[in-house]
Amino acid sequence: MTFDQDLLTQLRDARHGVVFTGAGVSAESGIATFRDALSGLWSRFDPMQLATPEAFAADPELVWGWYESRRRQVLCSSPNPGHIAIAELAKRLPQLTLVTQNVDDLHERAGSRDVLHLHGSLHYPRCSRCAAPFELAPAPRVEATEGRRLAPPRCLQCGGAVRPGIVWFGESLPVAALETAFAAAADCDLLLSVGTSGVVYPAAQVPEIALHNGATVVHVNPDPQALGGTDEWLLAGAAGEILPALLQAAFQD
Ligand code: OAD
Repeated sequence: MTFDQDLLTQLRDARHGVVFTGAGVSAESGIATFRDALSGLWSRFDPMQLATPEAFAADPELVWGWYESRRRQVLCSSPNPGHIAIAELAKRLPQLTLVTQNVDDLHERAGSRDVLHLHGSLHYPRCSRCAAPFELAPAPRVEATEGRRLAPPRCLQCGGAVRPGIVWFGESLPVAALETAFAAAADCDLLLSVGTSGVVYPAAQVPEIALHNGATVVHVNPDPQALGGTDEWLLAGAAGEILPALLQAAFQD
């Protein structure tokens, strides 16, 4: 695999890099994306029945069971070479901010620290009434059957139903994480946008802010349509193949 020399120089010399990831970075770990035509979660399930506060109020067992099955699938999965390359990149640059839309913990398990989770996490549920965090018992390392209904646990403080710690449609993103992500995007000189369709706002503003502030924006995506404007680069392919090769080419020691 060969890369443009100018791009390699920019990566090597970057003062502050931002990596912005979406579901595609976890695809090679066996976690489904949302919008890929056949395999994407939102082509098989209706988000309005699973990913809104109204859906949880109407059918908590359905919603809790679906997220619990996704959490168990993540627990049975491992970080792939794409996650590992991103953790490695943090050691090579003076500053790196990792912003993810993903709700799994594969970046952390690959060794990344201080990951900004803009859309919450499967691993940190909270009470739907008083917002107290709820500690889940370690799940058995077996995959839950998709679609199995499961009663949500009850909050130990107030008895309310515990809900997934996910940002649902119609809900606000965590303010501190979003502000830090926007500030990093405005400050960085290079942003890698990895495995995202870039259609969900306000998260999708992160690469736009970087571009607007003069940073080089590089998309890593097998879909050629992922390229935004003319000032952007596209490295077409799977993150687990492109990222390790890119690091190897830029930082060959
Ligand atoms: P999408 O499913 O919208 O997009 C996934 C992207 O990953 C697509 O552009 C694919 O082409 C690309 N892709 C697939 N396999 C890849 C691979 N091996 N390497 C690199 N890229 C690959 O997922 P997101 O952009 O993450 O929100 O979706 C954004 C948000 O929409 C999610 O965070 C979720 C969803 O509704 C919440 O859960 C709140």
